Amino acid sequence: MSSESTEPVENAADNEKRPQFGTRLLTDDADVYKHNAWDHVEWDTEQEEAAQAAVAKNSTIKMSSDQRERFQSEAPKFWDSFYGIHDNRFFKDRHWLFTEFPELAPMSNNEQSEPRSIFELGCGVGNTILPILQYSTESQLKVYGCDFSARAIEILRSQPQFADKRCEVFVMDATLEKWNVPFDENSQDIIVMIFVLSAIEPSKMQGVLENCYRYLKPGGLLIFRDYGRYDLAQLRFKSGKCLEDNFYVRGDGTMVYFFTEQELRSMLAKTGLVEEQLIVDRRLQVNRGRCLKMYRVWIQTKFRKPLLSP
Ligand SMILES: C[S@@+](CC[C@H](N)C(=O)[O-])C[C@H]1O[C@@H](n2cnc3c(N)ncnc32)[C@H](O)[C@@H]1O
Repeated sequence: MSSESTEPVENAADNEKRPQFGTRLLTDDADVYKHNAWDHVEWDTEQEEAAQAAVAKNSTIKMSSDQRERFQSEAPKFWDSFYGIHDNRFFKDRHWLFTEFPELAPMSNNEQSEPRSIFELGCGVGNTILPILQYSTESQLKVYGCDFSARAIEILRSQPQFADKRCEVFVMDATLEKWNVPFDENSQDIIVMIFVLSAIEPSKMQGVLENCYRYLKPGGLLIFRDYGRYDLAQLRFKSGKCLEDNFYVRGDGTMVYFFTEQELRSMLAKTGLVEEQLIVDRRLQVNRGRCLKMYRVWIQTKFRKPLLSP
């Protein structure tokens, strides 16, 4: 496996142990190697231009339509192999999950008067679902998860915390026009997508979001975190890996897109969802031993379905 193939997925969550963003600011450049990570890093024009140049360089040559067709049609197979190869390394200790998304945090039984239902698209091996099940004692909670990798779903089902009748997971391709799900339209309190939309070909993203809207309850929340434009993982791609602008294939055949906040805002707003949060998380990670600076960009959003349909 090339570093390209594993690096982005591994690093998708390599800020897992960091608390909520915005807590450590670099005010004096001389301090940069004093900590492993800095929040809210400002990019100057020079850095922005260098990133643009790196992307222009790695995306001038696009893959042929045949190659592209293969990566798209065989996408579940590539993710199956990913989950076959990586053993346990795709399990993340996501300390940020409940601080960034308190909506997913366990409710005490007296807080929870109504049943609530959470659906995770592209749940993988359960980095979100398992902590929810583990920490929540809510008897009226129902957690659903789907992924198009049958291997991921099999690994998830084999985890000890999974033995919970509050949870149901299944294999489904989120890009299907009509979802085949064990719940009704307008039924989910929360739909979660964490590093998933980026794995889907851009022409199908809007349809996925439209379906999220359809299955959310009026008043329900879509929670999203994913790669931002000019993240280190994008800049590191070599020429010849680009499928279309800002959309690449890793060495293991999995695909990844890098979003701007405007793109996400416009796709989400088009569904009828209403913005509550849209944060670009620019973080500087530091390898102090090797004096390396790594600029990460993630986007986090929360969009709500209005109580009354337009
Ligand atoms: C980067 S992983 C993230 C997994 C999980 N959300 C997490 O945060 O650990 C992307 C996941 O999306 C799944 N995926 C990609 N395209 C999908 C699609 N069209 N339908 C369902 N799942 C998909 C992959 O199989 C993989 O498990």
